[in-house]
Amino acid sequence: TLSSEAALVDGLIEAIPDFPQKGVTFRDLTPVFADGAALKALATALTRPFEGHFDSIGGLEARGFLIAGAASVVSGAGVLSVRKAGKLPRAVLSQEYALEYGTAAFEVHVGQLPAGSRVLIIDDVLATGGTALAAVNLIERAGWHVAGFAVALELDGLGGRSKLEERGVETFSLLQY
Ligand code: PRP
Repeated sequence: TLSSEAALVDGLIEAIPDFPQKGVTFRDLTPVFADGAALKALATALTRPFEGHFDSIGGLEARGFLIAGAASVVSGAGVLSVRKAGKLPRAVLSQEYALEYGTAAFEVHVGQLPAGSRVLIIDDVLATGGTALAAVNLIERAGWHVAGFAVALELDGLGGRSKLEERGVETFSLLQY
């Protein structure tokens, strides 16, 4: 049985068949983001397991930013902007990662947080884990510690969780599909 937070979020997620391509079911979280009570419940549920163990929230552009901002307000920690390449104006560290077609890169500002800061990474969906792992590598290379990875929706069978566990990253998902 789902917790009341999980049930509230789950009830708002829309399954869109054949998007972005035939045979793929897209789980749309925009109704969750558009509902204040649900967004707050999601942010609370994702931060609670890590309470007392993080100093900052690593928000992953773009959809992760929405949850990270809410998680900041409920937890009192600020947000580390983990941005797509080319967006940050000061000196950056970059981490490339593989997409289905081609590559992308995340960047953070060098020295954005004090050395050794404990960062809880937050995103909307965990699928193959390529995105999450890139964020883990980047944060560690920047001199910070990954406190964990928290995600609204974990898609089973794509290997994301095992990639993170192999890396020693404690992973929490509110919902599993
Ligand atoms: C989606 C999603 C996760 C990632 C999960 O992001 O928001 O970040 O894919 O997939 P993975 O576990 O296989 O890496 P997307 O790259 O579409 O970017 P967006 O949030 O900017 O839309």
